[in-house]
Amino acid sequence: MSAVFSNRWVLVTGASSGLGEELAKRLAQRGAHLVLTARREERLRNLAADLTRVNGTRAEVVPADLSHPDGADRLLAALRERELNVSHLVNNAGFGSAGAFADLDAAREAAMVELNVASIVRLTRGLVGGMIAARDGGVLNVASTAAFQPVPFMATYAATKAFVVSFTLALAAELEGSGVRVMALCPGPVHTGFQAAAGFEGPAIPLAVLTPNRTVERGLAAYERGEHLYTPGLVNGLQSFAARLLPHGLVTRAAARTMRRLGRVPGKLAAKG
Ligand SMILES: NC(=O)c1ccc[n+]([C@@H]2O[C@H](COP(=O)([O-])OP(=O)(O)OC[C@H]3O[C@@H](n4cnc5c(N)ncnc54)[C@H](OP(=O)(O)O)[C@@H]3O)[C@@H](O)[C@H]2O)c1
Repeated sequence: MSAVFSNRWVLVTGASSGLGEELAKRLAQRGAHLVLTARREERLRNLAADLTRVNGTRAEVVPADLSHPDGADRLLAALRERELNVSHLVNNAGFGSAGAFADLDAAREAAMVELNVASIVRLTRGLVGGMIAARDGGVLNVASTAAFQPVPFMATYAATKAFVVSFTLALAAELEGSGVRVMALCPGPVHTGFQAAAGFEGPAIPLAVLTPNRTVERGLAAYERGEHLYTPGLVNGLQSFAARLLPHGLVTRAAARTMRRLGRVPGKLAAKG
């Protein structure tokens, strides 16, 4: 049980796989009631049934496409209709795409901005007023170590996560002393559905891989401690710290070299590495 989450309704976006599924499991163990959302309804229903069976969790499923401009508002309307008073919002749903920006699909890049950025703004704005009034609850945004420097060949994704960190830290400062906690969790590479969705294939992830389990457990512990920005893992933490200290040009070129090593760069551009 957890003083922060016990008997509170927690909305987890992107709960159908990876970090979101793990977050839901760990939150259930902490005594939370859960609203699970993503597009794949059957996976959410199976997870909800498992959590109820194993932990006695009250779990509601609300399928939503949060890359659609109306998706977040529809989700908020469903919460109101079911009278679900959400105390904690976990903005976890997100995806990336790897490749030369000029070759990437324009509609998919824009959908990424809608999901990774706009839906977080809409959901947070929709729910934070209730948290402030209750002097309880909070917002946990899943960003990435990609937030700390531009990442060539993953340009849109890294920019969306930089937004998440900036937005989170500003909101945390606004809500200091309000009783509402706000934190950005910045994982490094973790094996989930993320790699396939981004177009990485094979065992391409280098150093510093934490499991989803450890990433989430450490992230939730940091949120419970009241941190505002947390990067799990020593190597990830050091990389993120260095990226904020060193000149932008240097860290951007280093990020480009890493992407070339991962083989996500078309031949003509790869030769420059
Ligand atoms: N894995 C990593 O290496 C890593 C590192 C740093 C940060 N992150 C961040 O961690 C978060 C979770 O990603 P993950 O690694 O767990 O990847 P994942 O296994 O692919 O999970 C992504 C989740 O987002 C949901 N989602 C995708 N598009 C959606 C949409 N249009 N509407 C609603 N939900 C949508 C997916 O559900 P449906 O497909 O069912 O909709 C899924 O539940 C993301 O924000 C990602 O950027 C991941």
